Amino acid sequence: MISSVAARGKFITFEGLDGSGKSTQIDKLARGLRAHGVAVTVTREPGGTAAGEKIREVLLHSTTAGLSPMTEMALMFASRAQHIQQVILPALAEGRVVLCDRFTDSTEAYQGGGRKLGTKAVLALHEILCDGLQPDLTILLDNDVAFSVERARRRNRRDKAGRGGKDENRFEQENRAFFGRVRNAYLAIAAREPQRVQIVNARGTPQETHAAIMEMVKKRVRSLGNL
Ligand code: TYD
Repeated sequence: MISSVAARGKFITFEGLDGSGKSTQIDKLARGLRAHGVAVTVTREPGGTAAGEKIREVLLHSTTAGLSPMTEMALMFASRAQHIQQVILPALAEGRVVLCDRFTDSTEAYQGGGRKLGTKAVLALHEILCDGLQPDLTILLDNDVAFSVERARRRNRRDKAGRGGKDENRFEQENRAFFGRVRNAYLAIAAREPQRVQIVNARGTPQETHAAIMEMVKKRVRSLGNL
């Protein structure tokens, strides 16, 4: 558990469909905050630790076949539990701003919505395995399903080097209906928790999207206090 709320940094997560531009935006925000002298930790899920990166490989490789949705959900949480203990909580305790590419909302959207496991199981596991840790702010980059998925597929075809030459295609092979359910689940989370989850229109240029995010983060970080 987090012992001192006063000494806590800020936990900001990024969510959205594959190809919604999260990585670009996290990179820009990290640079923007660092330019203001803020100590920033950038990390991602699944992954973020040595064990988590191994779990990521199992989860995302396109040849991983026959993984049951329950197994998929369990592995996402296994990676996350390790990540929280080893990376996120220590960084927050040091007062750092943690920018995390995906967190439990991804499990609710992809496994709960996409794989139809439902919200209840995801939230129950989150309570047990993540001690209910909630982001201070979640940026949901929203775009049309067709646009995001096409962009993700193009990126993987063209630029395997952009992913360190790794095959991380398993989810991107899913169909439009799957991503439609993922997007609806995301929008339902945002409607349920409007304080935490801010929807950002990701249809503009990367610079426009970055400016919107920067404003949101400045406002939120100031109103939350200690930065
Ligand atoms: P990511 O590397 O963020 O993909 P992208 O850069 O294309 O957005 O995430 C990898 C994939 O893992 C992505 O397709 C979503 C999926 N995922 C889940 O299904 N559940 C989860 O809990 C997480 C964290 C990711």
